[in-house]
Amino acid sequence: MLPPAANSKSDALVFFGATGDLAYKKIFPALQSMIQHGTLDVPVIGVAKNDWTLAQLQERAAQSITEFGGGIDPEAFAKLKGLMRYVDGDYRDPQTFAALRKELGAASHPTHYLAIPPSLFDDVVEALGASGCAAGARVIVEKPFGHNTATAIALTKSIQKVFPEPSVYRIDHYLGKSAVGNLVHFRFDNAIVEPVWSRNHIECVQITMAEDFGIAGRGKFYDETGAIRDVIQNHLFQVVAFLAMEPPSRLYLEALRDEQVKVFRSIPRIRAVDVVRGQMAGYLDEPGVAPGSKVETYAALRMEVETWRWSGVPFLIRAGKSLPITTTEVMVRLKPVPGHKHAPDPNHFRFRLGPDALAIALGIQVMDESQPSGTRSAELKAVTVSLHDEVEAYERLLTEAMDGDPTLFVREDLVEAQWQVVEDILDLQDQPFPYQPGSWGPPEADRLAASVGGWHNPVPENIGPVPETIRK
Ligand code: BG6
Repeated sequence: MLPPAANSKSDALVFFGATGDLAYKKIFPALQSMIQHGTLDVPVIGVAKNDWTLAQLQERAAQSITEFGGGIDPEAFAKLKGLMRYVDGDYRDPQTFAALRKELGAASHPTHYLAIPPSLFDDVVEALGASGCAAGARVIVEKPFGHNTATAIALTKSIQKVFPEPSVYRIDHYLGKSAVGNLVHFRFDNAIVEPVWSRNHIECVQITMAEDFGIAGRGKFYDETGAIRDVIQNHLFQVVAFLAMEPPSRLYLEALRDEQVKVFRSIPRIRAVDVVRGQMAGYLDEPGVAPGSKVETYAALRMEVETWRWSGVPFLIRAGKSLPITTTEVMVRLKPVPGHKHAPDPNHFRFRLGPDALAIALGIQVMDESQPSGTRSAELKAVTVSLHDEVEAYERLLTEAMDGDPTLFVREDLVEAQWQVVEDILDLQDQPFPYQPGSWGPPEADRLAASVGGWHNPVPENIGPVPETIRK
């Protein structure tokens, strides 16, 4: 089967899991925004097994947009309602797919979005193929893309029985965040950056993803996942790729994805000794968590990118639930200036990736005679805010998938290379170190950053008043 011709626009959007959580929190709000921006004008067919009617699904869409989409826009929502269709049925029943085929009518390039648990992927993909719904179509798959290297390969193989790789769009919503995409522009659209962006000037790269909430009722899912699988192998690794990659050629479509893969093929598998895992107090009492579970709700790790640009520069990554703040931040510390008695803070680049504020800051020293070093630290900042960051990410990614642009989606070789890097630390059986909710995780993680002046702990971003012009 051939993929839809490059750039052919999808003429229908089908989303499985229409009555589920992801649709409620992300997809309906994204659909209204797409209509507001003029990028959605094709039938939107929800599929689920809930004995619902179309009217009930439309009501659910209204609630979702009210709660998560910044409110109903009467004109856009009326249009969305008019585009919506609903197929109710079991994903294992061929009748469901016959009904879907009928609903698709003359559409010849539908996009099928699998917003469903991975255990159902095989059945749905196979049934899409058998019912003729996959011809000329694309498929969007949500993370997790497998549980380790072997299962990721198996999952891809089973999807590829029906959809060839160019038609497979694996969503990692971090790739749709403008603050993450901005890393690429910052690096390659500013002539001053490249000369310092290497081991010659950079001492270490740190990425912290902190969340001030726990596992939010997702005990069963989380206890099979843990922090490394949930956010490091995917979201934070996408950030690593953009920070570490070589400049992509501007001459062909796959250039960016080729460079992302090369980064992970240059990272040796992380060893257990370079990882510190933590478990927040109270985790074992959460519903769905196995008694005595050793799953981590916090992980910190140290790795290196073995290239001419990066050799010897530690990349320190950590993610945790129930930390003091919710934010993802990158700190790129430069080497200290030579011959300075009172060693002021070294220069840095700091990237705030959300969700409260997006910021790019350059840390510098300015004269201050009251300090022993004669200087104090200051930052030159470019700040913007995003009030609905995640909706933006899903909107961007859905729009690009429907347009047939795969650039911001995770290619099969990238998923596999990313799994390989963490393969040896996925199922560690040592007891994770306990930490108190609201702390920065177990102090045992300090040793990973000891040689580079310790971890950088993000603080609330001072964004000042938001200018009217950039309010949504
Ligand atoms: C999801 C993880 O993929 O990403 C969650 O399953 C996590 O555990 C979420 O909270 C974070 O996304 P964001 O966009 O809020 O940083």
